[in-house]
Amino acid sequence: MFIAANWKMNLNKKKIQEFITDLENFEFDDGVKACIFPSFIFIDYLYSLISDKSISLGSQNCHFEKNGAFTGDISPYSLKECGCEYVILGHSERRAQYNEDNNFIKKCAYSAIDAGLKPIICVGESIEIRNSGNAINFIKSQLDECLPENCKDIYIAYEPMWSIGTGIIPSINQIEEIHSIIKIQAIKKNIGTTKVLYGGSVKPDNAEKIMSIDNVDGTLIGGASLNVKDFLAIYCSAVKQIKVIS
Ligand code: 13P
Repeated sequence: MFIAANWKMNLNKKKIQEFITDLENFEFDDGVKACIFPSFIFIDYLYSLISDKSISLGSQNCHFEKNGAFTGDISPYSLKECGCEYVILGHSERRAQYNEDNNFIKKCAYSAIDAGLKPIICVGESIEIRNSGNAINFIKSQLDECLPENCKDIYIAYEPMWSIGTGIIPSINQIEEIHSIIKIQAIKKNIGTTKVLYGGSVKPDNAEKIMSIDNVDGTLIGGASLNVKDFLAIYCSAVKQIKVIS
């Protein structure tokens, strides 16, 4: 299981320090990886705070070029140098607000892999697409256009746009259906191992149910990951789930 905290554009240095201090005596489980995705500017700082802990570090985005004249962008190689292991690509907020398209996301994924990062590629439909009955076709075409081919292992996050920050989550059947389609599409792209995370209004009171669904390999958490108690409660739901399976 993989529990990812996407902090988006939140938390300052003091709050980050408090968050990590509050984790001080928490025992992470070998079967459940926790990873935090802070703002670019605090990646280095967070790395210095977690270097002796069982927490991984990731970035919320990267550019596809190694270096060059790309003002304001960050190379995946720089992220790797600063201790990142993972990078989120194609989050719906990036797609909607910065016009990042599938082609751009695919190029970033190849580049991230070259730099030694593991990409977490986000897909998800809008409420209009869901209501028109086209969610499956939409997700399939997103995957077809943005997934890299023949790579070793990859993470894909299913984040329905209508669930992000709304408190509304899809039904168990809807999550199960999309996650199994994602796994099939990844096999078609000859990807070695694919882990599929669910994202969108994951909270302590729904995490256990979500993580018990077939083909849910973890969660990508936004709002609830800003509060250490909620984050750890969700983490503990994942630990509980792996104990049920084994
Ligand atoms: P919320 O958990 O706040 O709905 O955000 C989900 C998300 O966008 C994670 O990437």
